[in-house]
Parts: sequence; C-alpha cells; structure tokens
Amino acid sequence: MKAKKTTGESMEVVLWNKTNAAALKSMSKELAAHIQAMSKEGKDRVVEQSAGNTKYFFIVDGTDLSPRTLEKWRGAGNEVQQAANGQKVDSVWVRSEGVDESITYAFAEGMALGNYKFTKYFKDGKSKQPALKQLFIQDTHLPEKKQRELFTLVNATHLSRTLVNEPVSYLTAEKFSDEMVKAGKEAGFTVKVLHKKQIEALKMGGLLGVNKGSIDPPTFTIMEYKPAKAKNKKPLVLVGKGVVFDTGGLSLKPTPGSMDEMKCDMGGAAAVVGAMYAVAANKLPVHVIGLVPATDNRPGMNAIVPQDVLTISDGTTIEVMNTDAEGRLILADALVYAQKYNPDLVIDLATLTGAAIRAVGTYASAVMGTAASDDMQTLQKAGEKVWERTMEFPLWSEYADELKSDVADMKNLGLGNAGHLSAGKFLEHFTKYPWIHIDIAGTAWNGAAQSYRTKGGTGVGVRMLYQFIVDKYCKG
Ligand code: BES
Ligand code: MN
Ligand code: ZN
Repeated sequence: MKAKKTTGESMEVVLWNKTNAAALKSMSKELAAHIQAMSKEGKDRVVEQSAGNTKYFFIVDGTDLSPRTLEKWRGAGNEVQQAANGQKVDSVWVRSEGVDESITYAFAEGMALGNYKFTKYFKDGKSKQPALKQLFIQDTHLPEKKQRELFTLVNATHLSRTLVNEPVSYLTAEKFSDEMVKAGKEAGFTVKVLHKKQIEALKMGGLLGVNKGSIDPPTFTIMEYKPAKAKNKKPLVLVGKGVVFDTGGLSLKPTPGSMDEMKCDMGGAAAVVGAMYAVAANKLPVHVIGLVPATDNRPGMNAIVPQDVLTISDGTTIEVMNTDAEGRLILADALVYAQKYNPDLVIDLATLTGAAIRAVGTYASAVMGTAASDDMQTLQKAGEKVWERTMEFPLWSEYADELKSDVADMKNLGLGNAGHLSAGKFLEHFTKYPWIHIDIAGTAWNGAAQSYRTKGGTGVGVRMLYQFIVDKYCKG
C-alpha cells in the first residue's frame, strides 16, 4: 500500500516495551533519556512534535496482556485516532518495539473502531467523514493475515453500526433484507429472503402479529455460510431480533424518553449480519446460519391489542398482555424455524428488555442459556477478550410460572422484577436444542461515545460472536 498525502501532516506511533534495551539504543540519547524518565514517573506516553509530524511513544509493560489491559490499549489507539482526525492527518504509521502482537492488534483495533461516523444524512456528509483513511502496521509487528482479519472485523462492526444508525424512514424490514443480500454478496454468504406470503404459509403468527399495526410488510431472512471443509457437522445458528423500530405498538412507549432510541431495536439482527460478514469474509471453516425476523412495531389501524391471542409457528398460543413485549413474539417464530437445521447450538441476540439494562447497566450484556457449561464459559471468555462483556443469569422455573395465562399456553408478560429472566424463559419454551440468549438492550446503543465505541449503534455482538466461533470451532 502507498500512502497518499493530502495534508502534509503525518503521525507515527511507536509501541515501546519498556524492558527492551535494544530499542532504546536505536534512538537519540535525549529521546531515550526522556522516555526513561517518563517511564520512571509512571507515564505511559511521550509525544514528540516537529514540523508537520507528531510521534507518539507509548511505554508498554510487555508482561501485562490481561483483557482489561488490552482494552486500555484499544482506548489509547482511539485517542490517537481522535488526535489524527483533529489534525486532519489521513495516515498513521504504527510500529512496535518488542511488544506482544496482541497489544499492537488491540491498539490498531481501537484506532480503527473509533474511526467511524454516520454522516449519510448531512447535506455535506462526505466532508464530515473522518480525515483518517489509512493505518499502516509494519507486518513484522502484526502479520499480514492478522491485519486482514482485523480489517474485515472492523468493517463488519461498522456495517452493524450503520444498520443500527439507519432510521426506519430508510430501513424498513424489506430494505433491511436488501442490505443483508448486499452484505452476503460482498462477504460471500448466501441470503434468502422470505416475504409476507411465505411467512403466512409458515404460520409465523408472532412475526405476523407484531406486523399487524404496520403498513410495511415483514421479512424473514436466512443467511448461510457453508464452507466445504467445515469443522462442525451440525450448524451454528445465530438469530437476531430485527424490530426496525419499536414504538411499543398500542402499548405505546412514552415519548420523549423511552422511544427516542428505538431504531436500535434491530441491534441483535445487525450483530448477526456483522458476524456472518466477518466469518464469511475471513473464510472461517465453520458452517453458520443467520436468521432475522424483521418488522416495525407500530400502533396502526389493525394493530394487535392486549388480550389478543397469537399462534406461534409451532402451535403454541400466546396471550399478548403488552404489545411492547414484541421482540419475544418474533423471536419465538425464528427459534422454532432454527429447529429444522438440527443445530449444534443456537445463539440469539436481542435488544429485549429494559430489565437487562437495570441489571448490569451498559457495561455488559445479559446472558442466559441451556447450552453446555463449556460453551457458556467460552462465550463469557470471548466477551472478555473483545471487551464486550457478558453476565450470566439463571433460567429458574419460577420465572416461567410468571408467564401462565388463563386463556392461552403462555402470556408475553411476566412480573415487574427481573423482566429479562421471564423474557428468557419465554424464549426457552421454543428451543429444543442447546441455546444461548444474549440480551443486548444495554449495549447496542450509546447515548454518548464510550472510547472507541462510537455514539449511536455500537456494533456490539459482532466481535464477541466472531471470537466465540474462533474459540469454539477453530482451535486444535
Ligand atoms: N425494545 C425494547 C427493550 C429495550 C429497552 C431495548 C430499552 C433497548 C433499550 C423491548 O421491546 C421492550 O419494549 N421491552 C419491554 C418489555 C416489557 C413490556 C415486558 C421492557 O423491557 O420494558
Ligand atoms: Mn417493545
Ligand atoms: Zn423491542
């Protein structure tokens, strides 16, 4: 790659292992002394400014590779990204001196993930895009293969963010399906879109019920990546809640406030699309299927009302007690559909409940599941590695008792407390295979940027799922 300079400004980063004496020898005496002094004071960086050039030396404790420390290096990468964009620098060079590959990777990752802005709807959107366009890493410091993997993961995360950031004025269920077709073509996975007629033929009463108040038809999208030499005989199935906007339906959400961020309600689906993209583009030897039931949830003329009874595609009847508990209704049909693949494991992601936010805040996603404890642990570790942390909650039968209905097999509403767990029990009813549920209500959307997790859609789930797939299927 060749850099195209447009500003004349340049920026370099050296990640320098403080125990690396050889590296000290190769620099000027003054600089070496300065870095050593700063290091003694406990500072972690030295900035050297000269005409048109900024050089950062980060002083790295090469022995600490814990997840929290790697997250710190992502944050440092994001700071350099912000400085570069502040100075309208279009390329940054990163090299490391005696530093573990994982730190170089994390630093570059934080830079690249932070370098995102959703500017589509500004009149002069292009000019509002970040100035930083290129990141160079000497491949002796991070192998070409890792660099490519990082590049596609960043693209996949950005794709997921953009899908979340798109308002429903553009991203209807059908448009969303078109976007999945586009992503499939780009990354190399197949996509089949079921339209309303086919959804009716499949008797997906949950998805059709939620869609009743809308003038835009629902879709059900099936993505599949099946490499010739897959390590898994039975597929991994990913399911994403695709509510393109959640008004609450007739159990209308109050606004201002709780409705204002509800274009994020397809965040689970966006995570599945991003994960499919990353897996396919990086050609992981894993058979993965992605299912996305999509609709908006609106209070239009024929909208479902409380006490309506819907029939899910497996025949289970549901008394709708609150039309704002719509995610579980469309997920039920998707979880039933997943059964036909005889899956190795099913993971669903959904911006499902406010209760998940109240339980762990915005720092973690709430997880429940019936999968083997090895798999639960692999997911928990994967989440920590990429710093998309998870917290596991129980699926006790008491939470299912809350869902008993006088007139139907279940109702869609539990008691006021621990709503994320009654929601989990509701979903569990439709699973006859090892299953993990990830409630990302607190993590899919940022009201304000958190380091490299930019404002708006965060793309949460993409890197976590990818890491999980690598760790579960691609090791050994
Ligand atoms: N999409 C919401 C959950 C949500 C809330 C996501 C905040 C992101 C941020 C979901 O459809 C919903 O409305 N859940 C209700 C369920 C309740 C009516 C049982 C909730 O959690 O309040
Ligand atoms: Mn809702
Ligand atoms: Zn919702």
